[in-house]
Amino acid sequence: MLPWWAWVLIVVGGYLVITTILDITQTKRSIVRNFPIIGRFRYVFEMLGPPLRQYIVTSDLVERPFNRLQRTWVYRASKGELNSMPFGTQLDLEVPGVIKFNPSAFPTYDVHATDEIDPIVIGPNRAQPFAVRHVANISGMSYGSLSKNAVRALSLGAKLGGGYMNTGEGGCSPYHLEGGADLMFQLGPAKFGCRNSEGGFDPEKFKKLCENPQIRAIELKLSQGAKPGKGGVLPKEKISREISDIRGVPMNVDCHSPNRHPEVNDVPSLMEHLDFLRKLSGGKPVGFKTVLGGEEFIRDVSRYIAEHDDGPDFITIDGAEGGTGAAPMSLSDHMGLGLQEALVIADNHLREAGARKKVLVIGSGRCITGAEVAIALGLGADLVHIARGFMFALGCIQALQCDTNDCPTGVATNNKWLVRGLVPKEKSRRVANYLHAIHHDVMMIARALGVTHPNEIDRHHMSMIVEPGRRVALTEIYPSSMKAFHETRLIRREKSDAA
Ligand SMILES: Cc1cc2nc3c(=O)[nH]c(=O)nc-3n(C[C@H](O)[C@H](O)[C@H](O)COP(=O)(O)O)c2cc1C
Ligand code: SF4
Repeated sequence: MLPWWAWVLIVVGGYLVITTILDITQTKRSIVRNFPIIGRFRYVFEMLGPPLRQYIVTSDLVERPFNRLQRTWVYRASKGELNSMPFGTQLDLEVPGVIKFNPSAFPTYDVHATDEIDPIVIGPNRAQPFAVRHVANISGMSYGSLSKNAVRALSLGAKLGGGYMNTGEGGCSPYHLEGGADLMFQLGPAKFGCRNSEGGFDPEKFKKLCENPQIRAIELKLSQGAKPGKGGVLPKEKISREISDIRGVPMNVDCHSPNRHPEVNDVPSLMEHLDFLRKLSGGKPVGFKTVLGGEEFIRDVSRYIAEHDDGPDFITIDGAEGGTGAAPMSLSDHMGLGLQEALVIADNHLREAGARKKVLVIGSGRCITGAEVAIALGLGADLVHIARGFMFALGCIQALQCDTNDCPTGVATNNKWLVRGLVPKEKSRRVANYLHAIHHDVMMIARALGVTHPNEIDRHHMSMIVEPGRRVALTEIYPSSMKAFHETRLIRREKSDAA
């Protein structure tokens, strides 16, 4: 006869073994898959968090770069759950800087409304225009900085949700293509994906790549908000054999991209290079991504576009608040303009030059909820790119270890055990749900403002709290000249039949 404590050991041991097996083999929760049993505590803490938080430490609004309220919005949206909140807003609505929409007394009647919109067409006059149906899509994050399962889930999710995905500067991997989604191929200064043996640009490889019908547009990366003036960095810990083959770089040293394209020195050479890429691609829309510093560059670009037909089809403005896999703090904290100001400057110059109808503006930088996307649209973006919001949809818990290869959720690591925790098919549904939720929220805001298309949201629909109790119209805070005011951006209506 066994003593009583042996029975206890058998029962507890059996329970632990069975639970471990169940945890490792289930596919829904990456953390529990990667950290059996221990990972379950996260959900207990998450459940107890809201009721306990009023007695202990941090509020829902203090964490950075994204507070708990923002993250919860994404988690719920990506699970397809109701994104309503009980008991009213938790935001302090009198804090300077808060932007508010001005609701219309006569909102767009929504009884028969759907979220379908006239497509927003990138490069409507090019040989192969790209018609986009969601206002927010997946921003560039390379395979390498993200795990292969994360890239797979994003590409499957983009296809499922009817959005598109930017490849990031690490090249177009088989995992980007696997899901069948539309892709915006990003060409970074290191030319990953179309690189010759000396590390320069190989036009033939680029041309061949662009023959793939999944590649719908090309983005030349000049700079990125989190690290202007510095190329991408992939820490050696994250360079697997496969990534080293795809990129053509060694495994045992950090992979640094150059900080600019040697072919591009000024606005004319930039325009020439964009046109060269467009011709090589067979007429696919081509644009560039940049963070703004001052006004001179975008003013010159705007004038060029107004006077020529071979300029960019889109300009992606990345705000200084943008995310990254790894960046020096001095650049992340002290370089470049934030998205709001940069969008207004770009929009003003493009209108002023008479170029606004010839180019689309894409904005990115800490927009992860529908309201944040709608604000960016109102400030001058036609489309929004989201990176970290989609990482949350994949299960990121903001553990801030993206540069160590130890990401516990399998999103930003190439550690085989941790990557296995992220199940692409499962997470792809969350990606698709999040795509839909953002679009739905923006449409809901558009209707409340009395318009029917997200591109009709404008500065005059918004105001900003400048001191407690005083709101000022955004048209006053960010004025534009009369000429700019009359120059509209109705590309999509004129060319809505391009597909
Ligand atoms: C993990 C990670 C990897 C990224 N990789 C790239 C990249 O390869 N190329 C690029 O232009 N931007 C890259 N970015 C920046 C994003 O595309 C985006 O511009 C920026 O994070 C702002 O969007 P967000 O605030 O929605 O994250 C990366 C960002 C993250 C978080
Ligand atoms: S969980 Fe942490 S390490 Fe992983 S992607 Fe999110 S912030 Fe980066």
